[in-house]
Amino acid sequence: MRDLENKVIYQIYPKSFKDTTGNGYGDINGIIEKLDYLQDLGVDYIWLSPCCKSPQNDNGYDISDYMKIDELFGTNEDYEKLIKEANKRNIKIMMDLVLNHTSSEHIWFKKALQKDPKYYDYYIWRDKPNQIQSMFGGSAWTYSEEVGKYYFRLFDKTQPDLNWENENVRQDLYKMINYWIDKGVEGFRLDVIDLIGKEPDKMITGKGPKFYEYLKELNNNTFKDKLLTVGECWCSTIEESYKMCNKDGLTQAFHFTHQCLTHTNGDKWNQSKLDLNKLCENFDKWENEYSGIEAIVMNNHDLPRMISLWLNDNEYRKESAKLLITLFGLLKGNLYIYQGEEIGMTNAYFDTIDKYKDVETINKYNELKEKGLSESEIMNIIKLVSRDNARTPMQWDDTENAGFSNTKPWLSVNENYKEVNVFKDINSKDSIFNYYKKIIKYRKDNYDKIDKKAIFKTDSKILTMEKDDFILFANFTNESININIENTVLFKNYENVEKGKLRPFEVIVFNK
Ligand code: GLC
Repeated sequence: MRDLENKVIYQIYPKSFKDTTGNGYGDINGIIEKLDYLQDLGVDYIWLSPCCKSPQNDNGYDISDYMKIDELFGTNEDYEKLIKEANKRNIKIMMDLVLNHTSSEHIWFKKALQKDPKYYDYYIWRDKPNQIQSMFGGSAWTYSEEVGKYYFRLFDKTQPDLNWENENVRQDLYKMINYWIDKGVEGFRLDVIDLIGKEPDKMITGKGPKFYEYLKELNNNTFKDKLLTVGECWCSTIEESYKMCNKDGLTQAFHFTHQCLTHTNGDKWNQSKLDLNKLCENFDKWENEYSGIEAIVMNNHDLPRMISLWLNDNEYRKESAKLLITLFGLLKGNLYIYQGEEIGMTNAYFDTIDKYKDVETINKYNELKEKGLSESEIMNIIKLVSRDNARTPMQWDDTENAGFSNTKPWLSVNENYKEVNVFKDINSKDSIFNYYKKIIKYRKDNYDKIDKKAIFKTDSKILTMEKDDFILFANFTNESININIENTVLFKNYENVEKGKLRPFEVIVFNK
């Protein structure tokens, strides 16, 4: 598995990357158009959020046909062309696999509703609901008039959970995965994979008793340990996430434990200030305790932008973006970059609910309304945390719609696009994009220096990370702080180093 280490994976949210047809939605040809940009950045894989046929209630995470690319994004031929064009540039394609649930528009579910003898058991039916709650709010059970029973769905009511206990379901999924492997897909991101072993009657959702058995069977029947696979495991500890990474499981897993540090009592809608002591403890675990390949991730389509949540996305935006990639970029494992992160894109902070499209956000809005919160109280919560913050169209330049599309995009462009865009960033002398390139190149050329144990320390304002060859100092505050260090500088995010102090959000890496 070690040959799958030290990779850079760039996540594309296809709907918001680049529109070439003028319908306001990004598409596959738009991705092909930007492959040179990604090659220049130095990426090894592109992870594409789902592009298969879908009613788009959850932006493609509700699949109605696994073998067909949605017309919104193009055709199967376009997808195959993307694989070929990417491969020409030494970039592999990682596909997003949604195996926990389908869309209610999937033919399997439609047949299940008609009590078809084969497909009825593809889903989970009960006479009475129990207390399990959906991740998107409310009960996880929805009553079907047609069937006269409740079906289980951990997400939206249009996303019924598949019944993994049914061998036919598993075999059909393996066939589908092998179809895409034959087309040239060389990696998979497995959506909410730790939920497939659920046992709802026992109130078990994550990592059920048969989870590891299913994972092994899935692995052995499809990607084996040859392709790069990463599981999304929201409800897992670092220990649990590593447990599923081995030759019979996955290459690696996202555990998101660092993003969860600011959740108050596990509630992401109630964010608290980042505690650097906890962050150091967390890093210490992944870097020093486990021998697996860490999936280093700051951002994705489900998270508010880290720069907005943890640092300063306004007057110190560039410094903050560079601080984060210096710190995360010098950790060992595979580095995941989410579109726009490489130019310092920020939260969109839309302040009226009509601007939001995300099903989870809208459910939350309704839930808080019912609880009696005022409009401004609700919007203050949603503005900071909503998943739409990171889903706004990619900002390519300062022309109308940020060069994403020649028509009104499906989700509004972030208002700061005239200031924050690829064209402007690449042509500026303190470019974030060029800084990302430097870090990526350093990783490629010096992985032996990165792949070392690290010591993390903090006084709650400055975080230090020390490895055998270098030491990093990062100021997480907007004040200048005196420090006493002198040495050759490897990386810095201000033009010059000022001896004896760290300015707001300054990061410096010294050679030892
Ligand atoms: C994952 C996806 C998220 C989606 C959910 C249900 O968490 O990343 O976007 O809503 O699964 O498929």
